[in-house]
Amino acid sequence: MGYHTITVEIDDYVALIRLNRPDALNALNSELLGELSTALTEADANDKVRCIVITGSDKAFAAGADIKEMSQKSYVDVFEEDLFTGPTEAILRVRKPIIAAVAGYALGGGAELAMTCDFIIAADNAKFGQPEINLGVIAGIGGTQRLTRFVGKSKAMDMNLTGRFMDAEEAERSGLVSRVVPVAKLVPEAMSVARKIAEKSQIAVKAAKEAVNRSYETTLREGLQYERRLFHSLFATDDQKEGMAAFLEKREPQFRDR
Ligand code: CAA
Repeated sequence: MGYHTITVEIDDYVALIRLNRPDALNALNSELLGELSTALTEADANDKVRCIVITGSDKAFAAGADIKEMSQKSYVDVFEEDLFTGPTEAILRVRKPIIAAVAGYALGGGAELAMTCDFIIAADNAKFGQPEINLGVIAGIGGTQRLTRFVGKSKAMDMNLTGRFMDAEEAERSGLVSRVVPVAKLVPEAMSVARKIAEKSQIAVKAAKEAVNRSYETTLREGLQYERRLFHSLFATDDQKEGMAAFLEKREPQFRDR
């Protein structure tokens, strides 16, 4: 499919989706969000994809929701179109892992898009922020909710109330990102991490993603029970037999379950 605001490349079981509105620092307009939702849904259904990387440019992952597009909307407009709900739900429906590879600005909806992915790898020039307060609004895709769960109340409150940016070093220290790499190495590193995931048992990968994400939605006791049941269910797979046999036979496993 031909896209205008993103590019998609599939290589070695990894789909690399690049946000591509350079003139607007990849601001998330409705066309981009629609194309991203379609690309993610297609990647999830494609047997040649096992892991997805979303990235932007060296200057901006995404500088937020498109302010030009939003500026004239009324309350009735955004309520009726349920602004941002559709694309967010589309991302959450994807069962394959999604890595956000963030360089430059990840602000407002850009930071929120990154946090909606399964984990974030940041370039050393990354800047995260929820500057919506400067526009007379607040975050609308999780900047008050997911950010708080990542970095705790104090930093989330600071960022949402002052609009200050967090650099890559602080983001790693605070648990917002899993690792920081030099900007030139960002995409190669994210692709290499994605390929590593693509080599694992894909049914176990999906179970692990589901179980970790469940920890955000439930109590510890319920989450542990959910994890245990998924763990038990993996003993019904060929990959569990193969993975454990390969360990005991001191060889590499050949996983086949999808
Ligand atoms: N929406 C629309 N256009 C944007 C944009 C956005 N969020 N961010 C940047 N742009 C555009 C600029 O308007 C500019 O376009 P023109 O050349 O046509 O004027 C172009 O991108 C380059 O931007 P700057 O000239 O401002 O670049 P800079 O390097 O001087 O500054 C920046 C970079 C600090 C990121 C600055 O662009 C900025 O502050 N952007 C807005 C950030 C923001 O407020 N994001 C939150 C949006 S609201 C939101 O996301 C709501 C939500 O939670 C869902």
